[in-house]
Amino acid sequence: MESALDYHTARALLDWQIELGATESIGDVPIDRYALPDTGPKVKKPVAQAAPEKPKQVDPAAVAKAAAQGAGSLDQLRATMESFDHCELKRGARQLVFADGTPGARVMIIGEAPGREEDREGKPFVGRAGQLLDRMLAAIDLDRHKNVYITNVLPWRPPQNRDPKPEEIGMMKPFLERHVALAKPEVLVVMGNISCQAVLGKRGITRLRGHWDQAMNLPVIPMFHPAYLLRQPQAKRQAWADLLELKARLEGK
Ligand code: URA
Repeated sequence: MESALDYHTARALLDWQIELGATESIGDVPIDRYALPDTGPKVKKPVAQAAPEKPKQVDPAAVAKAAAQGAGSLDQLRATMESFDHCELKRGARQLVFADGTPGARVMIIGEAPGREEDREGKPFVGRAGQLLDRMLAAIDLDRHKNVYITNVLPWRPPQNRDPKPEEIGMMKPFLERHVALAKPEVLVVMGNISCQAVLGKRGITRLRGHWDQAMNLPVIPMFHPAYLLRQPQAKRQAWADLLELKARLEGK
């Protein structure tokens, strides 16, 4: 085949390539490397990162409600409450204070929250207020070891015995409701303003005490809290009247 270049021109081009560093010829036909498909090492395109998932907002009251509904007995309810981790009070308390007395009793007393002695012993109303409560009950032939069941709105001691916060009460209320449903009392006694608020949705114990109301499908009587009676002994007269009212109800009068 006749070359398109004369010998001298072809030789000059070859010399020029050698000058540039070419050391061998690897093909007869020129390759247009710009026209070749890109076969270079593939650089992975960064995959669009999914936005980190936001931690799911849990509604502690909804969690409590579902957990409480799942408890089929008082023992199960106690275990469920022991494993409930959404209430801050649990972290500051020594233990859960669930209940004391006689499950299935006609009378169920609902106090506010454990104090120091209750937190230590794991039972409600065992301190000074509890001892007064026992004397009040004995005056109308009631006894926690025979015919009264006792619990609190909150099962953990608030730090420095501060008032429970509304959100703590709201969060724990499903457990209280379930507790009442499982204990099956005939009447509820709510002691003091915090219990009145939690059970009846009302405050004003001085006005409410001694008057039967209705909540959780049961008759409810509010009374002064025994801790209040320790500070205000003159109010014991009204507490006595309320105890007689409770006794009359139990005797069907
Ligand atoms: N006061 C309450 O309301 N409950 C207790 O258990 C003790 C004191």
